[in-house]
Amino acid sequence: MLRIAAALAICAALASSAGAAYCHGKPNPNAQPNLYDINEDAPVPVRTHANGKAFRAGKPGFDFWVIHVWGTPYERGLAQGQMMKEEASAMVNGVWKFMQEQVEDAISGLPTWFREWIAQVGLEVALDLTRDLTEDFTPQRYYDEMRGLADGAGVDYETVVRIHLIGELTKGDCSLFGAWGQATPDGNMLQLRALDWNTDDVFRNQSAVLVEHPTGDESDGSHPFASVGFVGWLGVLSGYSSQKLAVSEIGIAFPDASFGEESREGVPFTFLLRSILESDDSLTAATHRIKTANRTCDLVLAVGDGKQPGPESFRAFEYSASVAINMTDYNMAPNNDTWHPKMKDVAYLGMDWDCPGYNAVLHRQLATSYRNITAATTIRDIVPIVQTGDTHVAVYDFAREHMYVSFMRHANSTVGPDSAYDRQFTRLDMPSLFNEPRPTSA
Ligand SMILES: *[C@@H]1O[C@H](CO)[C@@H](O)[C@H](O)[C@H]1NC(C)=O
Ligand SMILES: *[C@@H]1O[C@H](CO)[C@@H](O)[C@H](O)[C@H]1NC(C)=O
Ligand SMILES: *[C@@H]1O[C@H](CO)[C@@H](O)[C@H](O)[C@H]1NC(C)=O
Ligand SMILES: *[C@@H]1O[C@H](CO)[C@@H](O)[C@H](O)[C@H]1NC(C)=O
Ligand SMILES: *[C@@H]1O[C@H](CO)[C@@H](O)[C@H](O)[C@H]1NC(C)=O
Ligand SMILES: *[C@@H]1O[C@H](CO)[C@@H](O)[C@H](O)[C@H]1NC(C)=O
Repeated sequence: MLRIAAALAICAALASSAGAAYCHGKPNPNAQPNLYDINEDAPVPVRTHANGKAFRAGKPGFDFWVIHVWGTPYERGLAQGQMMKEEASAMVNGVWKFMQEQVEDAISGLPTWFREWIAQVGLEVALDLTRDLTEDFTPQRYYDEMRGLADGAGVDYETVVRIHLIGELTKGDCSLFGAWGQATPDGNMLQLRALDWNTDDVFRNQSAVLVEHPTGDESDGSHPFASVGFVGWLGVLSGYSSQKLAVSEIGIAFPDASFGEESREGVPFTFLLRSILESDDSLTAATHRIKTANRTCDLVLAVGDGKQPGPESFRAFEYSASVAINMTDYNMAPNNDTWHPKMKDVAYLGMDWDCPGYNAVLHRQLATSYRNITAATTIRDIVPIVQTGDTHVAVYDFAREHMYVSFMRHANSTVGPDSAYDRQFTRLDMPSLFNEPRPTSA
């Protein structure tokens, strides 16, 4: 009992639930548009493995990994671990160190008995309780892939499992929108995912798009998908699937009463998002998954489905243990005509729920580009002015099957600004990624 209570206390402390408060952040009013050309060069192959290939994409100084893995979950994890051994081990060990520091900071304000208990049992034990609370809700094949990654990279399996709970512990701010119909030049839906999360070197150094090619014989019908994230990271924060589904997410630190309760017992949201990309074939299936999941923390999720026509192609979800409310343009909450006005054919949210400063500017920029909301205008005039997406940004253009990505600057790069939203984007052709041929066995 005490242990569970303590684990819950850690999570609550890290999640900074702020009740009826408002977030006070806002973008710099002097923020400038992003005038970089969009890079359209194809990724360049640099490493191969029996079940993997690694490419560098992006112009020099803006470059990032594109990692392909094939086979069973274990084989895919092993391929990534072996092919990317140095990067994956730096990521896993570095994130674990980062999480320990975060927990120490977070608990410093908590009662003495609690700090003493942590000192006694160790952070590992305390964090592993979170794992126990999520284990029953996590598909076995994710653990198999983590096992492969650990074996391949030569890192501790338990540490790999622990770092995959970081999303549950430190949710990001972030922004999203879906725009269709009158908002876009051709009526087709465009979707944004801007991740404002962490820009420590451990993350900065490992920016990657991971393209997984399952064998197809997994029990629940997996299919190829691309996850925008980090080397050695198997959860999904952002990504696009071969079923033309794409996901966005916002961590909510300033909810209102409509969110109800949070829980620590359920599916980690980064695995839920992964299952949507990996296993769902429609927005209907994804909606069912979200509504029936044992949900945990306060979030807003969004799912786009490029196979559906305009108004049916995008839904946002107010998400917590208590609720999963599907929203589109006419009922996009929170309801505040001053700083979050409704827009026909656009559903949007900037940085947080009760967050007037960012939402007002996101609304203004969407209104300025209205009828002409495209990948180009989103990249040039929306994300850099709203200053959202410091860690990475993905813009999903379903009609053309393109994903535009930008990452924060690598620690070894001196080229360009720091934040992903100010940097050069690279256009990835998704059918080409999903059709990348498997290495022929020697
Ligand atoms: C990040 O990369 C820089 C430059 O390559 C390196 O000096 C630094 O040690 C790396 N830091 C981490 C935490 O990986
Ligand atoms: C998971 O969700 C189902 C349906 O909402 C509920 O009946 C069940 O008690 C939940 N399980 C846990 C462990 O919370
Ligand atoms: C939300 O889902 C309910 C139940 O499926 C449906 O009746 C309603 O039309 C949906 N609303 C939106 C805005 O998608
Ligand atoms: C809208 O938000 C402002 C704070 O920015 C608040 O004063 C006002 O009461 C809100 N309006 C509604 C209808 O909630
Ligand atoms: C739409 O945006 C593009 C640049 O991204 C610009 O060249 C074009 O003039 C705009 N069209 C309209 C109708 O505003
Ligand atoms: C920066 O790091 C990346 C990834 O480790 C590497 O591919 C690239 O060559 C490095 N660039 C420089 C200038 O060292």
